[in-house]
Amino acid sequence: MTGKVLITGASGFVGYHLIESALSRGLEVTAGIRKSSQVDHLSGFNIRYAHLDFTQPAQLARVLEEGGYDYIIHAAGATKAPTQPAYDEANALSTERLAGAARMALPRLKKLVFLSSLAAIGPLTHIEGAITEQTQPNPVTAYGRSKLLAERKLAIQPIPWLVLRPTAVYGPRDKDIFILLRMIRRGWEPYIGKAPQRLSFVYVKDLADLGVHALFTEHIHRTYNVTDGRAYERFELAEIVKDFFHRRTLRIFVPVPLVRVIASTLERAYARRQKSPALNREKLEELTAPNWVCEISTVKRDLGYLPDYDLKNGLEETLEWYLRNGWL
Ligand SMILES: NC(=O)c1ccc[n+]([C@@H]2O[C@H](COP(=O)([O-])OP(=O)(O)OC[C@H]3O[C@@H](n4cnc5c(N)ncnc54)[C@H](OP(=O)(O)O)[C@@H]3O)[C@@H](O)[C@H]2O)c1
Repeated sequence: MTGKVLITGASGFVGYHLIESALSRGLEVTAGIRKSSQVDHLSGFNIRYAHLDFTQPAQLARVLEEGGYDYIIHAAGATKAPTQPAYDEANALSTERLAGAARMALPRLKKLVFLSSLAAIGPLTHIEGAITEQTQPNPVTAYGRSKLLAERKLAIQPIPWLVLRPTAVYGPRDKDIFILLRMIRRGWEPYIGKAPQRLSFVYVKDLADLGVHALFTEHIHRTYNVTDGRAYERFELAEIVKDFFHRRTLRIFVPVPLVRVIASTLERAYARRQKSPALNREKLEELTAPNWVCEISTVKRDLGYLPDYDLKNGLEETLEWYLRNGWL
């Protein structure tokens, strides 16, 4: 494949793997970053850099015009922000401005792939069944609502866009699920409440390969949910990690009402400082939701998506990476 791709959010976890996948497909890659972005870990890649300021539409259009990109993968986005307006700014308005700039500056743009999130639909409230593209969106967090707004703002732009909605992504360089993996390695297996849950995951390499592959398919103006296609019981992730380390753990079930009190306290304390706590009441709802399982037949059919990894082999590869790189 040939062509120039701009990858926004290139300094982030998924961004790294998107760069790797795009280069392996022969694309010329430009990493869209901020002036403040940490990019030392990208130094081994043969790529260009472009500074993007999503608050400045004219600057965005100028950078796009100078780059003359054939493709854009828009992975920049905030997963932590203090307020709904801050989420909307980082996720929805930035997407709207990027799409608007692309419309003006890149008349021959072949595709813009936007990384939304399954959080834009939200979880199912019952344990049976699976989320599909037809499920009525009901996001339970400010983050999810901002991603849904981003999708809606993108949908009215006259450019060739495509939306991917990944579920929880894990893999080398992730810092979020990593916290849980490290706790399990240390012998602690924490859970909020005792209610059963069905979860979904996607390995970052499968997601990145899909994001790049989607650039070259004929499909536009579609939205696809993305998981590895499986349903996992709530203890499965820990079981895999324990087997990998040959380790026993202590399961701790923290009662939901207690966690709710902690979440409210954190919310109040952080609100005064205009910061976002790692846990708030919305996040609690997301973490304890009964069903995040997702049907992926549409993305398989349209985009030929065939994930290489399930949670076991994806986690094993990830844990090996964390060990090799001194994270664990
Ligand atoms: N990880 C997951 O489980 C998951 C699941 C579903 C969807 N997603 C979506 O996938 C995308 C990538 O996620 P990730 O896990 O790679 O997150 P990440 O590691 O936090 O990276 C986020 C990237 O977005 C950039 N960014 C954040 N806020 C920005 C802003 N206001 N303006 C410009 N750039 C900004 C960051 O730049 P700096 O380096 O300068 O901060 C970074 O490059 C996001 O859109 C996220 O919503 C992730």
